[in-house]
Amino acid sequence: MPDLGQGGESMMNLYEAIGCRHSVRKYTDKEVPEKLLAQIRSYFEKTSRLNDRIRTELDILDNTKGKAGVKGLWKAEAPYYLAIYSEQEEGSERNAGYIMEQMVLYMTVKGLGTCYLGGSHPSVKSKNGKKCMMLVAFGYPEGRLYRESPLAKRLPLNELCIFKEEAGEQMKTILRAARLAPSAFNSQPWRFIVYSDRIYVFAQKNRIPGKSARAMREFSIGIMLSHIMLAAEELWMELETVTDEHFASKTYKNGDYVATLSLH
Ligand SMILES: Cc1cc2nc3c(=O)[nH]c(=O)nc-3n(C[C@H](O)[C@H](O)[C@H](O)COP(=O)(O)O)c2cc1C
Repeated sequence: MPDLGQGGESMMNLYEAIGCRHSVRKYTDKEVPEKLLAQIRSYFEKTSRLNDRIRTELDILDNTKGKAGVKGLWKAEAPYYLAIYSEQEEGSERNAGYIMEQMVLYMTVKGLGTCYLGGSHPSVKSKNGKKCMMLVAFGYPEGRLYRESPLAKRLPLNELCIFKEEAGEQMKTILRAARLAPSAFNSQPWRFIVYSDRIYVFAQKNRIPGKSARAMREFSIGIMLSHIMLAAEELWMELETVTDEHFASKTYKNGDYVATLSLH
């Protein structure tokens, strides 16, 4: 359990939050102070982007009086919802997942529980020409805010990775962070081909066809890429993302090539 500071805030950083966050589906009705809501809004401006040409927008929906008007399947009732809106372009789902996970980890650090709600939508589905890509429930948890990482239900690394060369400690740290990423239905659609200094990332083909399943997969891939970015930052490593035309132009039976991540 991370240390709690004087303000009830933990002293951990976003990378450390990867190891202890879980989805929170039950909330108390305790209000989040306006100051913290303002910090959440301003943190959004500081998040890294996969593609900074895609314009995005954040909105906090106040549901403390039960009037936010959020609807959908597998919804968690919460006092607040965070909505991310984005222009619709190639890569906008992946970019939105990348940004939203940084928000979610930031809120974890601040003592708030969160849960992605891929099946839900706000009453206002688009804003300033941008579409709502995801809602995240948040608030103070009724149960536990944290979970120890060994208890996370995830596939073992040897099922996610093909090791072509021996992975050093730093590479393993990065892969462990990627492995812990949350995904829609915990589908963990990522697979990795690992060399000592680079990772070839693939996204598994969806078992369920259709546009919204694909959008959820892409959003989840964005989340996972943000974990890799945060782990690389923690290790002071240089992370370079390249597209290998050799892989990008091929079609694969079980998955799609995402990118090659080179680490040094
Ligand atoms: C894109 C996405 C969509 C999700 N949609 C829902 C949802 O609609 N309802 C829900 O209860 N959980 C949803 N989740 C939460 C996942 O079920 C959860 O992250 C996963 O099972 C792993 O559990 P953990 O987050 O506790 O580690 C979603 C997660 C992601 C990443």
